[in-house]
Amino acid sequence: MVKNITVLKGDGIGPEIVNEAIKVLDKIGEKYSHSFKYTEVDIGGCSIDKHGVPITKEGMELCKSADSVLLGAVGGPKWDSVDPSIRPEKALLAVRSELGLFANLRPTKLFAQLADSSPLKESIVGNGIDLMIVRELTGGIYFGDRRTEVVDGEKVAVDEMKYSEHEIERIGRVAFESARKRSHRLASVDKANVLDSSRLWRAVMHRLAEEYSDVEYSDVLVDNAAMQLIKNPSQFDVIVTENMFGDILSDEASMLTGSIGMMPSASLSDSTLGMYEPIHGSAPDIAGMDIANPIGTIMSCAMMLRYSFDMVKEADDIEAAVNKALDDGYRTADIYKDGFTKVKCSEMGSIIAANI
Ligand code: IPM
Ligand code: MG
Repeated sequence: MVKNITVLKGDGIGPEIVNEAIKVLDKIGEKYSHSFKYTEVDIGGCSIDKHGVPITKEGMELCKSADSVLLGAVGGPKWDSVDPSIRPEKALLAVRSELGLFANLRPTKLFAQLADSSPLKESIVGNGIDLMIVRELTGGIYFGDRRTEVVDGEKVAVDEMKYSEHEIERIGRVAFESARKRSHRLASVDKANVLDSSRLWRAVMHRLAEEYSDVEYSDVLVDNAAMQLIKNPSQFDVIVTENMFGDILSDEASMLTGSIGMMPSASLSDSTLGMYEPIHGSAPDIAGMDIANPIGTIMSCAMMLRYSFDMVKEADDIEAAVNKALDDGYRTADIYKDGFTKVKCSEMGSIIAANI
């Protein structure tokens, strides 16, 4: 099969980790006779430097016409003071919105090999952590009206948080379906004791819960959810939540597993077009040093094969290759401990590719 992948390497460690992911994809292509064709598009700070905008119109079109999009990371201190209308992150939000990528799946799994990397006690993570955060990605406060105005002689800033029923329903369906494929448990996280948008969220979720009566459903307030994730993470299986709560909780959840560098994500639309990226950022402090962990990006490619290309065996193969690299004792700096073999980003990529 021929698949066209638009590649957005981005800033900081983005290019390094994406190069390793491509090594692994090429190996899969060889083994299963697929041809993955890559088209690179600048995104984020590197695009601002070259083209004056965080993504060009042609770049956006190449994302829309691809079979799927692979992203590294965007942003860095160099572009912190550019005009907000062309910030690197703007491009990421624009791609999410223009491609209709409303469903962001962030699986959070503690690799058994890294059990002692979790900052939580063995008594808490001993049963393992395996949860799926389903984050709404094209609505809420990220996409509401935004302005700063002067009122009575002082600046006032406004960010609007808005959800409509159909936006809540479609992400709700993704979450309930996902719960059906896992352990039939779904927690919906909101702030319905304060926010109207959350009260509507909850009402729509309750309607769906009646329809999906085989799924054990619960409501959790977001502050409590943040606490419960630390107190007793294994109570959760699938968590569905709005855009900003999902952004925050997924960073928190990822840390339970020891390193944010391990965690992949898939951003899905109504069609098979999706964007795949690690959940971590561009880590400018270690950019260019070849010490980043490419596993989050490599695992994102496994999600690409599974969700966009329906290549299940190939996806399983990548996950097994990652597990073997960990079983064999290879660790990048972020997950390194005495007694293991410390490897560079590029070495980890080659080892995983060789395991395929
Ligand atoms: C993420 C990131 C982005 C977000 C940033 C870079 C805009 O933190 O994908 O979680 O907030 O969605
Ligand atoms: Mg985030």
